Amino acid sequence: MARVSRIYDLLARVYDTQDHIEIAQGFHAALAPIARARPRGTWVLDLACGTGVLAEKLGRARIPVIGVDSSREMLAIARRRCRAVSDRVRFQRANLATFRVREPCSVASACGDVMNHMLSRAPLVRILRQVRRNLLPGGVLVFEAHNRFAYQHYWSGHDYWMEGPGGDLAMCCEWDERRRLATARMIGYARNGRGWERVETTLVERYHSDGELRSALREAGFAKIRREPWSPWDDQHLEPGIDRNLWTARVPENST
Ligand SMILES: C[S@@+](CC[C@H](N)C(=O)[O-])C[C@H]1O[C@@H](n2cnc3c(N)ncnc32)[C@H](O)[C@@H]1O
Repeated sequence: MARVSRIYDLLARVYDTQDHIEIAQGFHAALAPIARARPRGTWVLDLACGTGVLAEKLGRARIPVIGVDSSREMLAIARRRCRAVSDRVRFQRANLATFRVREPCSVASACGDVMNHMLSRAPLVRILRQVRRNLLPGGVLVFEAHNRFAYQHYWSGHDYWMEGPGGDLAMCCEWDERRRLATARMIGYARNGRGWERVETTLVERYHSDGELRSALREAGFAKIRREPWSPWDDQHLEPGIDRNLWTARVPENST
């Protein structure tokens, strides 16, 4: 937990760039019909909720949400953002591998390449299993994950400059095809009174093939696994490929 939470503690103030907000908004559009159709009285789990963009949108639609994240600083921003909907949006600081919520949850969602943050199969299965334990029988997990095209075309040797209300973020990305690892060196300039504070960190992600994700979901106890090509960007069809997959998987009705 220390490594990833430290990365996002550093990045929190510069995380809410236009691109990151739009990804959460695009994901919300895909999730909303599923969240609205959940059984009465049940909650939505926002896994790795970050700065709470998705949680706030769900909360404003009167959907009760529990956001779980390991980064103290990301959660501090999420709590501030969701103050107006705090009667139905709660947060918990925890590692996805070990978290436990009390509320009855029928939908779990993960937006922002969360599964790609798991660098091998073992932690991936561990968190999927923990998500399944926190869902009611018949509950559904919805997440988006980067595909190989995304890493080959948007990470391999690409640099980005992103701006947001808390500061600006430079990302220098690399892609190691053989190890299927993507690296983003991130340099943030956080607004600090009248000046700037420089922060620097490196995030590593892994490409999990469709077969690997499917088998990890099965091993964690999920069934009815579906995948469809998906993108948060309206104009992605103008590109040579689609950058992500949207996954849904269900906890069997007879699960204990
Ligand atoms: C790319 S951000 C996505 C944030 C948010 N879901 C969004 O779409 O804006 C990834 C988030 O995952 C959280 N995270 C990564 N691994 C985690 C773990 N094992 N347990 C809890 N949170 C984790 C990080 O702290 C970070 O806030």
